[in-house]
Amino acid sequence: MRYMITAALPYANGPLHIGHLAGAFLPADIYARYRRLVGDDVLFVCGSDEHGVAVAIQARKEGVTPRQLVDRYHPLFERLFREFDLSTDIYYRTSEALHHQTAQEFFLRFYETGQLIEQTTEQFYDPEAELFLPDRYVVGTCPHCGNDRAYGDQCEKCGSSLTPQELISPRSALTGKVPELRPTTHFFLPLDRWQERMEKYILEEHRDWKPNVLGQCRSWLQQGLAPRAITRDMDWGVAVPLDSARGKVLYVWFDAPIGYISASKAWAQRRAQTRPDASPDDWKAYWTDSTIVHFIGKDNIVFHCVVFPAMLMGHGEFRAPDYVPANEFLNLEGEKISTSRNRAVWLHEYLQDFPGKSDVLRYVLTAIMPETKDADFSWKDFQARNNNELVAIVGNFVHRVLTLIQKYYGGRVPSPGVLEPGDEKILAAVGESARGIGEALEKFRFKDALAAAVQLARDGNKYLTENEPWHRIKTDPERVKTVLFSGLQAVAGLGVVLEPFLPQSAAKIRRLVGMESVAWATAQQTPLVGAGTQLPEPELLFEKIEDAAVEAQIAKLPLAVGVASEALAPAAEAPKPDVAFEQFALTDLRVGRILKAERVKGADKLLRLEVDFGFERRTIVSGIAAYHTPEELTNKNAAFVVNLPARKLRGVESRGMLLTVEGADGTLRALWAPDEAPPGAKIA
Ligand code: MF3
Ligand code: ZN
Repeated sequence: MRYMITAALPYANGPLHIGHLAGAFLPADIYARYRRLVGDDVLFVCGSDEHGVAVAIQARKEGVTPRQLVDRYHPLFERLFREFDLSTDIYYRTSEALHHQTAQEFFLRFYETGQLIEQTTEQFYDPEAELFLPDRYVVGTCPHCGNDRAYGDQCEKCGSSLTPQELISPRSALTGKVPELRPTTHFFLPLDRWQERMEKYILEEHRDWKPNVLGQCRSWLQQGLAPRAITRDMDWGVAVPLDSARGKVLYVWFDAPIGYISASKAWAQRRAQTRPDASPDDWKAYWTDSTIVHFIGKDNIVFHCVVFPAMLMGHGEFRAPDYVPANEFLNLEGEKISTSRNRAVWLHEYLQDFPGKSDVLRYVLTAIMPETKDADFSWKDFQARNNNELVAIVGNFVHRVLTLIQKYYGGRVPSPGVLEPGDEKILAAVGESARGIGEALEKFRFKDALAAAVQLARDGNKYLTENEPWHRIKTDPERVKTVLFSGLQAVAGLGVVLEPFLPQSAAKIRRLVGMESVAWATAQQTPLVGAGTQLPEPELLFEKIEDAAVEAQIAKLPLAVGVASEALAPAAEAPKPDVAFEQFALTDLRVGRILKAERVKGADKLLRLEVDFGFERRTIVSGIAAYHTPEELTNKNAAFVVNLPARKLRGVESRGMLLTVEGADGTLRALWAPDEAPPGAKIA
C-alpha cells in the first residue's frame, strides 16, 4: 500500500514547543515509521509555513523583514526535526520558488475554470502599519458583554463570535490606532457551492474519522459553508498571478496545504538527481493512487477536512484526504501553552537541558497524547513516567537480561533446552505486542499502541521474577539458559516494536542484541536472535531524572495567570483618547432593578436578566455567568446602558447592557447601584 503522510507545517514565526510535537509531528512520525516497518510505500513530508500575516506581524514586532524572520526559524525547525528523529522524507519550506509556482498554478486552474468569485468588501486598514488588519488584530469593546478587550473574530469573555465591524470603538492591536474601513476586492472560494459534495465526502464517505474531527465538521456543515476569501492585500506571500491583482497575495491557508504537494514534488526532483531509477514525477502517485493522511491539531480541522479537500477535488487531478486524525490541545501545568507569554516547553531548550533525551520527551508526549480531548503536560508527570516506566520497566528488563547473559555466558547467547509453557508465553508475547500495536496505530490510537509496547517489557519483567535466573543459576543452570534465551527474544522484540515510538532507544537495543533487521515481520518470527550470537557490553538505556532537574523547569515557567494577578497586579491601563462631552452625554446610563436572573441554555457564560427600569421592563443578556450566580443578582440594583440597539444572543433578544468592573485578573463584577435608587434613575 502507498501512503502520503503529512504533518501540519509550523509557522516560521516563533520557536517550536511540545504542543507542536504532541499535536502533529509525533503522531505523524510514529505512523510513518510503522507503515514503513510493515513494508508500505511511504512519503512523509513536512516543512515551514513561511507566509501569512502572523509571520509579517512578528517580523514587524522584531523590526526585521519577514524574509529575515523565516530565514532564522526555518533552519532551526529543520534541525529540531533531525534531533527529534522526525523521519520526514523532506522538510520543506513554502518560500521556495517551486512552491510559489505550484500554488499559483492551483489558483489559475480555479480561476480559469470559473471556480472563484470576486467580491469587494470593506476591511479595517491600519494606516500606520500600512496593513489590512486580520480580524484577530482588531480589538475593541464587545457589543454583547462590554468586554473592552474583545477580538475582531471572537470575544473571549462571553464567547460570541464577532466580525471586526461589530466591535465598539475598534483599535488596531498593532499600533493602537483607530483603523479605517477601506474597500478592497478579493477572490473567494465559493464553498457554498461545495456544501452537498462535502456532506457526502465527510458524512457518508468518511464516517470512520475520529469523533473529535467529525464533530467539528458536522458543526461547520450545519452552519452552512460560506465563500472564503483566498487572497489578501499584503506583499509577503505567493503573489496572485494576475495583472489585475497587483499587491495581492494568496491567503496563507490557500498556499500552505499546497505546500504538502510542493514538498512532494521537491522530494521527487531531488531524488531523481541522485538515483537513476527515480523520476521527478514520482510524487504524483502519492497524490492520486494512495492513502492520504494529514496529521494536524484541532485548530486546523476545517482547513484540512473541508477547504483543502475542496481544493484538491476542484483541481481535478488529485485525490482528497483519506484520514485527518487531528489531535486536541496540549496544556502545560494546567494552563494553555502561550507563545506570547513565553509559557511553553520549547523544544530547543528541552534538548539543551536534557541532552540526548529526545526519546524521553517522545515517550511522555505519546503517553499523554491529546487524542480525543485536551491533555496536560506536567514536569512531575514527565519525571514519574521516565523513572517509573522507562527506567523501571523498559530499561530494567533490558538491562537485567543483558547483564545476566554477560555475567553467566560472557555475552554469548545460550542455547535453550526444552521450553516450558511460561517460556512459550514470553516468546509469543513479542508477536502479540506487535499485533496490538499495529491494530491500535491503524486506528490512530497512539497511547494504546505505546502501552502495548511497554506491556512487552512488563511481561518480560514478570517472566524474570517468576523464573529467578539469579537464584537458579546455582540449582538449575540448564534451565537458566532457556530463560535467558527466551528473555533475550523479548528484549530483541522491544528493539522492533519500540522503533516507531523511541527510534534511538530501539536502535540501541538492536545493537545490544546484535540484531540487524527491524522489519515489523521480524517480531513474529522466533528466534529474533540466534543462540551463539556474541553480544557487546551492555549499556543503560535510560537514567533517572532527579527532582532538582524538574524543579528547575517548573521554576522557569512564568507564573500562572491566576497567581500572577494576585502577586503582581498590573498597572492600570492608560485611558482612552478624550471624547467630546456631548458625545459622552449620548450614552444613557440608568439604574435597573434586576427582578430575575437565570442561565441561558447552551451558553455557559450568559445570564438572562429581567430588569425593571421604571419606564419599562427589559430582558438583558450579560456575559457574567462565570462571575455571579443568578441568586447574587436577583433583587439588586445595578448600572446599565439603556440606549444600545437590541441584539440577539443565543436566540434571546437583549436590550441594553449591564456595566461591570474588571478585576486585575480579568474577572468581572456587576457595577452595583445603591439599593435606595428608584428603578430608571439616571446615572451621570
Ligand atoms: N501553520 C499552520 C499552523 O501552525 C498549519 C499549516 S498546515 C498546512 O496552524 F496545511 F497549511 F500546511
Ligand atoms: Zn463579549
